This record gives sequence, structure tokens and C-alpha cells, in this order.
Amino acid sequence: MNVLILGSGGREHAFTWKIAQSKKLENLYIAPGNAGTSQCGTNVAISPTDFESVKHFVWEKNIHLVVVGPEDPLVKGIHDFFLNDEVLKDIPVIGPGKDGAMLEGSKAFSKQFMIRHKVPTAAYRSFTKETLKEAEAFLKKLNPPYVLKADGLAAGKGVLIIENEEEAFMELKSMLTEGKFGSAGNTVVIEEFLKGIECSVFVLCDGNSYKILPTAKDYKRIGEGDTGLNTGGMGAISPVPFANNEFLQKVEQRIIIPTIEGLKKDNISYKGFIFIGLMNVGGDPFVIEYNCRMGDPETEVVIPRIKNDLLELFEHVAAGKLSELTLETDERFAATVVLVSGGYPGEYQKGKTITGLTRETNCMVFHAGTRSDGEEIQTSGGRVFAITSFGNSINDATSKSFSCAEKINYEGKYYRSDIGKDLI
Ligand code: AMP
Ligand code: GLY
Repeated sequence: MNVLILGSGGREHAFTWKIAQSKKLENLYIAPGNAGTSQCGTNVAISPTDFESVKHFVWEKNIHLVVVGPEDPLVKGIHDFFLNDEVLKDIPVIGPGKDGAMLEGSKAFSKQFMIRHKVPTAAYRSFTKETLKEAEAFLKKLNPPYVLKADGLAAGKGVLIIENEEEAFMELKSMLTEGKFGSAGNTVVIEEFLKGIECSVFVLCDGNSYKILPTAKDYKRIGEGDTGLNTGGMGAISPVPFANNEFLQKVEQRIIIPTIEGLKKDNISYKGFIFIGLMNVGGDPFVIEYNCRMGDPETEVVIPRIKNDLLELFEHVAAGKLSELTLETDERFAATVVLVSGGYPGEYQKGKTITGLTRETNCMVFHAGTRSDGEEIQTSGGRVFAITSFGNSINDATSKSFSCAEKINYEGKYYRSDIGKDLI
């Protein structure tokens, strides 16, 4: 098979690395990729949201399967674009259509979906600038902290958690009337604060049946001890020890089955990953959010733990025959530690020379924000690498990743050295 992966982060490098091991693979392309993906496939300078260029490339290279990494092209309808095109319509796309991607693309839509299909989630209401007065009254009825969510995609920054009522109201006003978060904030979801521990569950769905992939926990804040600004993710651990069988049974019965059945009832044909962000509230799971893709850096611990041939899994997704396969997973722990550019998630510099990237046998070094100019590898983003290791314990896995993180160097390198500590 000739395969095209869309995206350029650590998640896409992990997909590339895994697909490169498939017996079914002939040629592998990544658009646009990074310096890591070019070691196991061919990078092509096409933006994942430039559908016409993607079409041209898919036609020219006789691509048999397209795997979509990030949410943006999915929310913009890349799957529908393929289905509605005479030339592309029979080429499978891993990732939902525009309707399914709304689970991530609109918080108001996903909350309505959860209520409609009785999926446990925080109580909420959504508001626009026309209903600002009602929003204020609703806020007053809630207990702090207040959770405000911009409805649309806001690059992971659209959720505010605020202790003070007056400040919450100011922020609400600036989202609804002053365009904070742009049009993504034209509608705002206000919801009840859920107190508990978070984890993520990933489901691969063929439109009918599904496979539950390994669980993972990510570390969102920039600072150790979960302090400071939110980031795309500073590390991840899989499996999550507190997500034991009893908890996962509840997740499947109360959340996954109603979600899959809900998609069917709503006539949404969903072929791709569903990433369910959960809060464990005293042993009971509640959905915080749905994403229509895999997580990053969660993919960098989930995918290495899957023993199956990923292309075989994807072929079965495309054919609606996922139930014919058995998912096989590595029992060991996987840990990933993300190395970022100094200043991230605020302003940071790019173009720093990276050294120390020798062949590591103990870890998998997934590239995120890197580029190669032919001679050297340089930083090109906030998150630069995700370093994944296996271990028989969380400590064993993280120690290997930390020791590898020490060997890689570039000006301004930073990583959290407490990944996984809370789970030990
Ligand atoms: P989201 O983009 O919806 O995942 O929200 C970002 C983060 O905000 C989540 O990972 C949680 O840590 C937090 N969060 C979102 N909604 C809630 C909630 N209802 N209660 C508590 N924390 C929340
Ligand atoms: N790590 C969180 C995400 O991918 O959204």
C-alpha cells in the first residue's frame, strides 16, 4: 500500500514509525512531516488543509490510504472532500467526516450529543452575546471554580478555569463581545467544575464496531507539579494505573457504547479515532471532552504499545470489519517525555541547532518541532521531541526517557522531570 499521513508533530512521527514497520507498506509519505518522519518516509511540502494539493498528490502517487493526524483538516471536512470527489471517493480516509469531527469542533454540539445519548458529563449551558444576561445569572448559580469554554477550535487554549466570579464574568464578556478566541468564542459553554483525576481513553471505530486502545494520562501544564500555563502536553504515561478493569468497565458501558450507538442513531458514519478526555470523579467516569483524532503526546505511548500491524487495523476500519481483528497490546508501561523550546507555551525562538541525536537503543525519539536543512537538524516548534521508553514500572520507563533527554541538546531545552511521579 501507498500511504499518506497528514500532520507534522510527534503524533505523526509515531504513526510514521509504526506504519513503516507494516508488511503491507510500499511507499509512505508525510505532509508536511518533520525531520523525524523523513527518516522513515518521504516528506512532502503540502499543508493538511490544502485539500486541492492533497488531491493532486494522492492522484499522482497512487495513494491507497490517508491517515489524518490533526483535527483541523477533519473539522474542515477533508473526509467529505474525498467522498464527494469522483477521483478520490474510493480512497479510504482514517478520520471522521465533518459531522463526526463536530464532536471536537463544537463544544456546544458535543455537549448536546452527550445529553442526547445520556453520556455522563458536567452540567452546562451555552450562551451567545445575545444571552449575556442569562449567562451572568447562570454563573451566579454555580460554585467556583467556573469553567468557560469557547465553542470552536482554539488551538487548545479555549478553556478557562477561574476562581473568582467577577473575573469569570469579565472573561465571558471578552469572549462573547470582544472576540477573545475570535469566532471560536462566539458561543461559550459554561459548565460545572468536576473534581477528580483525568485520564484519556482512545477508541478506534469503523462506523459500527470499535476497539478500545490503551489508556493514557498526559501532563498539560508547563511547570512541575502541574503548575503554570497549559501546553499541548508535556508527557504521557500508558497504561494509567487508576484506570483499572472496574473503572474501564464503567467507561465502556456508560460512555463508549452510548457514544458509538449515539453516532449511529445520529447517522454519523465515524471511521477513525475518538479520543475521550475523562474525569474520574470518585470512581465514576465523566466526559470532559471528545476529540476526533489521537492525542499528542498520548499517541507516542499508545501506538508503541499496540502490537498489531497498524495498516491492517486501518484497512479493517475502512472496510467496516474491525470486529474481525483482536487488538494485541504490550503489557509494559510506556512513558514519553516532551522536550520543548525555552519560553514555550509563550514566545520562543526557532532554528536552534540540535545535537546529541545518536541512535538510541533504549528509547524511541519522536520528533515534533524539528526540521532538517540537509546538514543539521534544528528546532522549528514549541514542542521539539517526545522521548518514549518502555519499562516494567512507570519509574523504569520514565528513567530511560529522562536519561535520553539529557543526551539531546539545543539552546533553551526544557522538560518536566516529574512526568509519571503522581502515578507511582
Ligand atoms: P478541554 O479542552 O475541554 O479538554 O479542557 C481543558 C482542560 O480543562 C481539561 O483537560 C481539564 O483539565 C479542564 N477542564 C475542562 N472541563 C472541566 C470541568 N468541567 N471540570 C474540571 N476541569 C475541566
Ligand atoms: N494532549 C492533548 C491533546 O492532544 O489534545
